[in-house]
Amino acid sequence: MCSMEIEIRLLKDGEERPIELMLLADPSLKKIHEYSNTGQCYIAKYQDETIGVLVLKATHPDTIEIVNIAVREDVQGKGIGKKLIQYAIDQAKDQHAKTLVIGTGNSSIYQLLLYQKCGFRITGIEHDYFTREYEEEIYENGIQCRDMIRLSMEL
Ligand code: COA
Repeated sequence: MCSMEIEIRLLKDGEERPIELMLLADPSLKKIHEYSNTGQCYIAKYQDETIGVLVLKATHPDTIEIVNIAVREDVQGKGIGKKLIQYAIDQAKDQHAKTLVIGTGNSSIYQLLLYQKCGFRITGIEHDYFTREYEEEIYENGIQCRDMIRLSMEL
C-alpha cells in the first residue's frame, strides 16, 4: 500500500518532461522523444517534486500501451508504481480502450512480478527485440536483456 500522498496528473503544455525518470525505464533517448511527443505523459508529484512518470499511447484500435513507467529510485518499493498502473487502468477505461498492454525485458523480473500482481497476463514474446532495437547491450539481474515480454489486460 502507498502511504505517500501523491498527485498524478497530465503534464501541462510547456512543462518540462521528466527525461531522467524515463531513462530509468528505457535507455533509448530517441525512443523516449518519439513516444513522449506522440503519447500522453503523466507525472506523479509528491510535495512539489516529480517522483514518477507514466506515458500512455494508443497503439492499435481499442488498445492503449504503457510505453514508459518509472518511479524515482529513492522512493521505489513504496507502492507508487502500483498507483501509476491503477491510474493507467482508469485512464484506459475512461478512454474506452478494451485492452491495456505493457512490455518489459526478459531480465526485468521484478517488473514482471509487479505487472502480474496488477492483473496483466503474458501474451507474447518478441525474441531478440532488445538486441535488435538497442545499440548497447543491456544487463540486469545478472542476465542479458534480449527478448520483449508482452503482457496485457482486458478492461
Ligand atoms: N524485490 C521484490 N519485489 C519487488 C522488487 C524487489 N526488489 N521491486 C519491485 N517488486 C515488486 C513487488 O511485487 C512489489 O509488490 P508488493 O508491494 O505486493 O510486494 C511491487 O513490485 C512493488 O510495487 P511498487 O512499490 O508499487 O513499485 P515501485 O514504486 O517501485 O515502481 C517500477 C515499480 C518498476 C516502476 C520502479 O521500480 C521503477 O521505476 N523501476 C525502474 C524503471 C523501470 O524498470 N520501469 C519499467 C520498465 S518495463
